[in-house]
Amino acid sequence: MCRRDRRIRCSPCLRAGPPGRFRRRGPPGERAVVAAQPSPSRRSPRPDDRPDDRSNSPAQPGGSREVARIVVLVSGSGTNLQALLDAIDGRGAEEYGARIVAVGADRHGAAGLERAERAGLPTFVCRVPDFASRAEWDRALTERTAAYEPDLVVSAGFMKIVGEEFLARFGGRFINTHPALLPSFPGAHGVRDALAYGVKVTGCTVHFVDDGVDTGPIIAQGVVEVRDEDDADGGAALHERIKEVERRLLADVVGRLARNGYRIEGRKVRLGHG
Ligand code: GRF
Repeated sequence: MCRRDRRIRCSPCLRAGPPGRFRRRGPPGERAVVAAQPSPSRRSPRPDDRPDDRSNSPAQPGGSREVARIVVLVSGSGTNLQALLDAIDGRGAEEYGARIVAVGADRHGAAGLERAERAGLPTFVCRVPDFASRAEWDRALTERTAAYEPDLVVSAGFMKIVGEEFLARFGGRFINTHPALLPSFPGAHGVRDALAYGVKVTGCTVHFVDDGVDTGPIIAQGVVEVRDEDDADGGAALHERIKEVERRLLADVVGRLARNGYRIEGRKVRLGHG
């Protein structure tokens, strides 16, 4: 894929939004990536910022279609990563609108890394204990991720809170999936906390990451019923049922963001159509 052909499209309806909400990164003629910004105050200005002046009309049938580059971050089994890989494989990267260019983890031995290696993808590991401070870890994670020039970064079971530098670089295009219906039950124990609270329905939330814990603008949610027997195993079976919904939702949402573009208006995420 020619580098200058990569971009995330925004549909004409989204282009009608406030000026400056979308931007293009990279030198003119080399790269046209259109992505939403979280808010002007959250983002440091970069020298390559300039208005989008390139057509974002969908690719013509038979023509070569540009795809977004995705870096996925994992900590565990990586079944959400696998769902993305399968969705891209199933439709083909061009039709899906994106391809995974690398997978990163915060620890060695994560099964998600093995899935990436089986898929022939480059991987990297950035462990907090390998750095003198959390800020240095964040800078290294930012650099390792940025080296793959992603248009979107997906936290798929990545169990670390990223810092200021990562958000300054990837804010507005950094997506997380959480196994509860936010804003209820944020944090590392969303399934267990929802179960303990006695909710009758829970689910999963795909959202943009901001500087809070699971507080960013919500892109999509899926609902899962809680069963009486879920107490028996501390929520393990419930989490598995949530993950079934979560994997489908994440694969669907990422493809739609990549194919059709999006805009973040305060807390509202507007997906394009196409
Ligand atoms: C998912 O439920 C995710 O929401 C949570 O951890 C789980 C990761 O599962 N943060 P996997 O590693 O993708 O299988």
